[in-house]
Amino acid sequence: MTSPRFGVAALRSLATAMLEAAGVTTPAAELVARSLVAADQAGIYSHGLLRLPLYLSTIAAGGIDPTSSPEVVRRHGAVTVLDGAAAFGQVTMQRAVDLAAESARTHGIATVAVQGSSHFGAGQFWVNQLTEQGIAGILTSTTGPIAAPFGGSRPILGTNPLTIGLPSAGPNPLVADLATTAGAYGKVVAARNEGTDIPAGWGVDANAAPTTDPAAVLEGGALLPFGGHKGSGIAVLLEGLSAALTSAAFAFRTVDIWQDQSSRMNTGHLLIALDLAAFGDPGAIRTRVAQLQDEVRTSNPDGSVLSPGDLEHARLTANADTVELAASTVAELRLLATQHSLPFPAPLPEGTP
Ligand SMILES: NC(=O)c1ccc[n+]([C@@H]2O[C@H](COP(=O)([O-])OP(=O)(O)OC[C@H]3O[C@@H](n4cnc5c(N)ncnc54)[C@H](O)[C@@H]3O)[C@@H](O)[C@H]2O)c1
Repeated sequence: MTSPRFGVAALRSLATAMLEAAGVTTPAAELVARSLVAADQAGIYSHGLLRLPLYLSTIAAGGIDPTSSPEVVRRHGAVTVLDGAAAFGQVTMQRAVDLAAESARTHGIATVAVQGSSHFGAGQFWVNQLTEQGIAGILTSTTGPIAAPFGGSRPILGTNPLTIGLPSAGPNPLVADLATTAGAYGKVVAARNEGTDIPAGWGVDANAAPTTDPAAVLEGGALLPFGGHKGSGIAVLLEGLSAALTSAAFAFRTVDIWQDQSSRMNTGHLLIALDLAAFGDPGAIRTRVAQLQDEVRTSNPDGSVLSPGDLEHARLTANADTVELAASTVAELRLLATQHSLPFPAPLPEGTP
């Protein structure tokens, strides 16, 4: 299928209008729209506008409360516990980032533990906000039950993302942002929508047999952790950090919104912020981070090696004004626009950068 290109501003406006039509307040709608389009701009199509139809049906079914706002339920020194009150994960995460940055500037290090939340999209959208302020960030989250631990056949874990970002004196921060499954769930959904296979090693079917059929993974199968037993260990620990520490629900106690859109999943997130200024001269730390990035990039003389985060940064720069969307996502959004009597933006002529 071809992938048409659209203006970024037009996509943000369309997504904002659709969310407003579903009862989301304008500031929240703008934030969710910006986060989804930013994921597409970074080439993280699994967490871009592909998610909007699901978000809208989740509001309609009661899984997300479009009018509620997160509330601080506990403070202890540099630790804040935030209850998302079933609001959009993006709304709750924005509050968590703001609280973490403020508290890290006071204490040097701060933790915001989030309960009662929902899906927050791509982790780097949040951690990048910290690195822009000279603060390093570590973020993780629960999701619905879709991953089997190493050797297991039942999906009891989430895809438990881990995002770690360090400010740098170089052109972009050092950011690793990944699902702890071999492939992100959204990439499996995208493959099913586009009618393509997933890579071998990503998942098993309902009989725990290896498969490259995305539908077999999504319908009763399971995703597998990255890195065998080591990745599995990290995924289990992230489940503990983002559910046990926050009093959110373990993935295995939830029904995923892809299965039941009325499911209030009580998603948990853990955000740790480290203010560089508390550790020494922030400029010198940034320079050391840039040295590390350059050493990674030049580790092969042919210049082919990327430092974590380089790929997404390059795409964000290239897609600053216009962005490509998968044809299946365009078809779904076009249908929704028609249902809401909203004009759908015209695709840009082929060859538009
Ligand atoms: N909200 C949620 O519940 C949730 C759950 C799971 C994943 N996610 C998000 O899904 C997104 C995609 O995750 P993924 O696991 O598919 O990521 P990915 O495999 O595309 O990338 C993972 C990391 O590897 C780096 N990378 C990619 N190609 C590289 C290369 N050739 N050389 C060096 N580094 C390279 C990237 O910069 C990135 O930091 C992330 O944004 C994550 O936050 C969110």
